[in-house]
This record gives sequence, C-alpha cells and structure tokens, in this order.
Amino acid sequence: MKIKLTSRLRKRYPNISFRAILIKNIKNKKTNPRIEAEKLKLEKAIKKNSDLKTIERLQEQGSFHRSFAKSYPIEFQLKSVLQGKKIPTQSAYVDILFLAELKHYCIISGHDLNAIENDITFDLSDGGENYTKINNQRQSLKKDDIVLRENDQVITTLLYGPDASTKITENTTNCLYLFWFCAAISEKEIQGILKDFKQNLSLLKTKNTVATEPNITLESSPKLVITPWEVKGNIDYNKIVKEFGVSAIDNKLQKRIEKHTGPVHHFLRRNIFFAHRDLPFILDQYEKGNKFFLYTGRSPSNHTHMGHMIPWMFTKWLQDKFGVELWFQFPDEEKFLMKRDLRLDDVEKFTNENMLDVIALGFDPKKTHFLIDTRHANTMYKEAVRVAKLITYSTVRSSFGFTNEQNIGAIFYTAMQAVPAFLPSVLKKKKIPCLIPHAIDQDPHFRVTRDVIQKLGYYKPGSIQCRFLPGLGGMQTDGKMSSSAGDNSTIFTVDNASTVKKKINKHAFSGGQPTIEEHKKLGGDPNIDISYQWLTFFEEDDAKLKDIYESYKSGSMLSGELKAMLIKKLNTFLTSHQEKRQKAKKKIDQFVYQS
Ligand code: TRP
Repeated sequence: MKIKLTSRLRKRYPNISFRAILIKNIKNKKTNPRIEAEKLKLEKAIKKNSDLKTIERLQEQGSFHRSFAKSYPIEFQLKSVLQGKKIPTQSAYVDILFLAELKHYCIISGHDLNAIENDITFDLSDGGENYTKINNQRQSLKKDDIVLRENDQVITTLLYGPDASTKITENTTNCLYLFWFCAAISEKEIQGILKDFKQNLSLLKTKNTVATEPNITLESSPKLVITPWEVKGNIDYNKIVKEFGVSAIDNKLQKRIEKHTGPVHHFLRRNIFFAHRDLPFILDQYEKGNKFFLYTGRSPSNHTHMGHMIPWMFTKWLQDKFGVELWFQFPDEEKFLMKRDLRLDDVEKFTNENMLDVIALGFDPKKTHFLIDTRHANTMYKEAVRVAKLITYSTVRSSFGFTNEQNIGAIFYTAMQAVPAFLPSVLKKKKIPCLIPHAIDQDPHFRVTRDVIQKLGYYKPGSIQCRFLPGLGGMQTDGKMSSSAGDNSTIFTVDNASTVKKKINKHAFSGGQPTIEEHKKLGGDPNIDISYQWLTFFEEDDAKLKDIYESYKSGSMLSGELKAMLIKKLNTFLTSHQEKRQKAKKKIDQFVYQS
C-alpha cells in the first residue's frame, strides 16, 4: 500500500500537512495501566495549563473547521476534560490516539490496515460524495473538504472523521495512524509529536515490532478535470483523446479533408484541431452529395475573448471551403444557470456583443442562422423535451460532475444544446448530417446526446475538437483562457491597442532567461512561452513561425522582441475586427433565424 497526496490538495491548502505511523503485529487490549496513567497525567496538565497559548494554538488548528462553520473536535474534547470528564477508554491502540490529539491539538485518524487493500490518497472532495461514518450514519460531503480515498471511495474526511469499515477493533493487528495537521506547523514540532507518539506505543510493550513512518508521496499530475464549466489540471491532449474516447486527427484524415478544401487551415496543420468524432462519416456523406451543416455556439456571459474566436475562425473556414450552412447557438440561459451572480439582463447585453464578433468574422448571412435559446424557445423547446426524456439524471450527474446541490435548470440545459444538432433536419423534414466544431470542453454535452439524437431518428452528429488557447499566465496555471480568471489572463476582442500591448508586456508568461546575457547564451523556451504559443494560433505563415521558434530558442531573439511581434499581430487583427464589429451592428437581423 502506498500513501499519496494530490497536488490539487496541496495547492488548495498549502499549510496543511500529513504524516503516517504504521505498527504491525500487535495485539490490541481493552485497557493498559501505563496508558491509563498517562491519561491521568494529561488530564491534570490540561487543567493546569489551559492558558492563552493553548487558546491561540486551538484557534490556529481549528481554522479549517471554522471556515466550514464547524467547531474543531479537539476543542470540544478539551472542554470536557476541563469540566472534569475523563479521557475516554476504548482500547489501548485507540486511547493512544486520543492522548496525542489532546496533548498536541492535532487530529489523528486510526485505521485497521487489514481493511485497506489499495493505495490511499489524500485529496479534495468534489462535493456530493457519500460515505458511512464511524457511527454508521451516511454522510454526504461538501466541496473542498479534505478526504482520504481508497480508489474512489472516501474512508475519512477532515470534517466528518473516519468511516466505519477501517475502524480499529480488538481484533486489529496492524494499525495505521494518520496525522492531519490542520494549520502551518514546523517540522521540528511534527518530529516532537511523532516521537512522543511512538514512545507511547512502546509503552504497550509490543513484541518484535517497531513503528515505522511510511512516506506520503505527492502525486505529480493533478486529477484532470474537464467539463464545460471547469477546466483544471495540466492538460494532456493525448490523455484526453483516450479518456474522452475521441479519435485523433491523423495525416490520412488531413489529406482526405485537403482533397475537398485545398491546403488545410493552419489550425489543422498544427494540430490545434486535434480530435474528432465520426468525421469520416460526415465526409462519406459529403462525397455522396449529402452536404452536412455546421453547428457551433457561444454562451454569452461576458465579452468575447481570443480563445472563443479559435473554433469560430475555423468554422468560417469550413463554411467557405465546403459551402455549407451554419447554425450558431447563443444559449442565453446557460451561464445564467451556471453562475451564481449573473443576471439574465446582463446576459442579454453580451448576447448582442458576442453576435457582433461572430458576424465580423465574415460568415455568409444567407447560409448562417443564429438561434437564441430564450428567443427561439417556441422552435427549440419541443425538440429539447424529446431529448430530455431520453437522458437520466444519473448520466448528467456523472458526465458534468454535478452534485445534488445543482439547480434543476442546469440539469436540463444539455437538452437545449443538443437541439441545433438536428433542428435543421426537423425543419427540412429530412436527415441532414451535422458537424460540430468546438473546444474540447464541450464534448461531454455531445457525448451524452449523440446516441439520443440517433434514437430520435437523426444522424449522430460528427464533431471536431480544438485545444484551448492558453491564458496569458502560462500553460501550467492557465491551461484554458477564461474571463473568470480575471481580465489580465485574457485579451478581449474589444480591447484597444494600448490595452493589448500592456497586457502582453505585463502578463504574458515568458520562456526567456532572467537577464539578456543569459538569454543570449542559453536561449528561450518557446514551448512554455505564451507569446510564442499564441503565435502558433495567430501567425499563419509556417516559415515565419519556424524562424521565430529558432531565433528565440537560440537566444538571438529576446522576449521583448517576441512580445512585440505578438502585439503587432493581435493589434492588426483587432483593428480590422473592431471595424467589422461596428458594421455588424446593422446586420444582426440578417443572421437571427426567422421562424
Ligand atoms: N456551451 C457553449 C459555451 O459555453 C455554447 C454552445 C452551445 C456551443 N452550443 C454549442 C459550443 C455547440 C460549441 C458547439 O459557450
């Protein structure tokens, strides 16, 4: 058995630390005179020493519990000793634990090692998990509690304590003690506590056995979480292909696309669009003369940022090259349902703003139809309920990581997002293939609805997925650019030239060396440099990009020069985009679907 710690836990609670002590081949006794003597000693000491310092320490150690509006259990136990109650007696190996908790104000969980079969991991709770507490009651968890999991099953939580199944009993022969230090504590202090604990263990005079301190190892790769509303962890796109069950786009498929489009878009050449579902089927149909339509969308909640533009730019290219229709959805209820502080009125403003960005990209008004969920409810709702009837709550719950606290609007929403994938078939009363270009975080929606749409008598939609444009803060921290991460990690399409310049110069993570001399000697690292990474999205010229890569890596191009190139590229694009946005204001009516 190994004991692990996830880096998402470490990141969320950097001051909390964990230790383990293991003792094997023991015989647990009901009581032990030596331990009883220690208890008496401690009871006396507590009554004598409950001074200010104690209170301060308790305050500190209890801060985690208080942030969940719970009291710190040790405080409760101390109070009862102060009121003259005895330290409880359960069995020798449990009593040692009580002793140490009261003496050092830390939380210790004791487990029967034989009841643990797999590796165990300290982790954050996602919220909504269930487990059976030591008193045999079921407990559902809050988000961001600290939990110990065996596989996915929770066996202890910091807020609610250990579970029933690993409880130490009189039959326990191998004991695992876990120390949960709930606030910052020095290594020296920890050593003192562990030493004291082992000393007490040795009071039990266990034959042939010594306590050991198993290592707790930090898991290097955080759990990958990708849902339409949350992207965290280091994004490994190969892993996504496996876990999501999408297919990678290989050379052969690129060549097949090229047959129809001529030289492929740089997003395809550079693997920015990296995966698909059923794209060969869509091409089969196209080759037989059965044209597909495109479907993509944008859920308004803020101004459009450059990350949103990536799938739309590609969609525009597909529309031009294949000469096909595009249905563009603005689900103006989605973010309202998902974000606590967003009001419907705010959404309305951004729906209009976002439309301007789509129109400005040059979509053909004759072939492009905007669907706005609240405005087109009369057309969409009937189809959405047909979808919703075929999806269970448990599917939605696991696909989107929802908990029981999720509002019911959010649970229904995926049915609305499914509708445009077959609405054109409904309207034209014939089966038309659908291709959905989208960023990979939207895949859970279509994974859930592809089968449903087929059951309703239409083709399963095909899809083609892109990577995220990283946030300015860097690949590690900002795997996906998000406007909720703050304005400084994002460039909005409405940012003016000087804002763009400032944001890039100040916030774009650099892969350069700290000094010019070192940079010239050692060179920069384009793979982590955000300005370079952005240029892979926005510099279309392969030869030019290669040049930049090489001069930056060799050190002849400095970070400032690289940033200047990106600033120029973005500002050239944005100046013209913003002019087109202005003109788009008059064109909205041409794009909104007229039912
Ligand atoms: N859910 C998407 C968002 O959060 C909006 C959307 C609706 C969408 N339908 C889509 C995106 C189809 C891609 C493809 O912005």
